[in-house]
Amino acid sequence: MAELKTTYLGLELTSPVAAASSSLTRDADSIKRCEDAGFGAAVMKSLFEEQIDSDSRGMMEEMEYFSHTDAYDFISHTSRDYYIDTYLDAVEKAKRSVDIPIIASVNCRQQGSWIDYAGRFESVGADALELNVFVLPSDMTKSSQEIEQIYIDILKKVKSRVSIPVALKIGFHFSGMANMFKRLDDAGADALVLFNRFYRTDIDIKNLTLKSASVVSVPEESGLPLQWTALMSNQLSCDICSNTGIYDGEAVIKHLLAGASAVQVCSAVMKKGLAAVSEMNSRILAWMEEKGYASIDDFRGTLAGPADGSSDVWERSQYIKAICGIS
Ligand SMILES: Cc1cc2nc3c(=O)[nH]c(=O)nc-3n(C[C@H](O)[C@H](O)[C@H](O)COP(=O)(O)O)c2cc1C
Repeated sequence: MAELKTTYLGLELTSPVAAASSSLTRDADSIKRCEDAGFGAAVMKSLFEEQIDSDSRGMMEEMEYFSHTDAYDFISHTSRDYYIDTYLDAVEKAKRSVDIPIIASVNCRQQGSWIDYAGRFESVGADALELNVFVLPSDMTKSSQEIEQIYIDILKKVKSRVSIPVALKIGFHFSGMANMFKRLDDAGADALVLFNRFYRTDIDIKNLTLKSASVVSVPEESGLPLQWTALMSNQLSCDICSNTGIYDGEAVIKHLLAGASAVQVCSAVMKKGLAAVSEMNSRILAWMEEKGYASIDDFRGTLAGPADGSSDVWERSQYIKAICGIS
């Protein structure tokens, strides 16, 4: 009898399909629904560094005694504490409501005072912490080395404050991507989530204004995380969790074959409903039975690139085969 249970970040998961940080995981009730639907873990909706800061500023601007520094400090900390306490409360409630691992999430772009609070996620029971580091490399004055160092510094600082595993959810805007992943691995990342789907801006040609592009992914987007999971999984000691564009059981199987420890899913559920999760689990189990696999570990990583990075089957040779017909 095939089993879906697996390990990610050293945690036991009932399924390799985890709920990605989003409105699906905003509070204990929604996380309970995720567990009932068959998700093996839940990454909580992120606490945003900007959300805390801008709210504090907004409150300040409305205050008559804005110039009074004591009041500034008091309001600033009250506001900050309000958001953090509400978040910690949600983590605590979620932990009481479900058996699946709860991964707290922080969306950050710099080493702010939020790092001082990292230990509190652990104290309220979070099983792990995911850092969604968002540094868009659009500033011409910042070199790639400076930007990369921000990620390393945030990771090291957070790791020094907590003993729970720390995953880094990152984008693909690195020129030396494999080198960067290795540096994050060496700096103590327990997992890399490949890849974050950054917010995109679109243009409304009727009203000549800017608008938000679709926030949900499409299945075609899963090719990039699949390729990088396959290229990196045998070369890194940390786990890889694939994310973006994973819409069905077949896509999950592909990412596991490429070496992912788990996958995260959001858009598929937003489009198809929570039933999509049990469909994924059933499809993986049926495929495992068909192939004679009893556990995920029986086939995980069997189509990943080699540990020395020497093979190019996941790189140029498939490209040449597709374009020129040379195999
Ligand atoms: C409505 C919505 C809200 C999201 N909120 C967060 C968030 O708070 N933190 C985060 O790290 N990612 C957030 N994400 C990104 C998802 O976690 C995920 O990385 C992304 O949607 C790609 O996965 P998918 O293709 O399965 O949707 C959000 C995505 C959506 C659609």
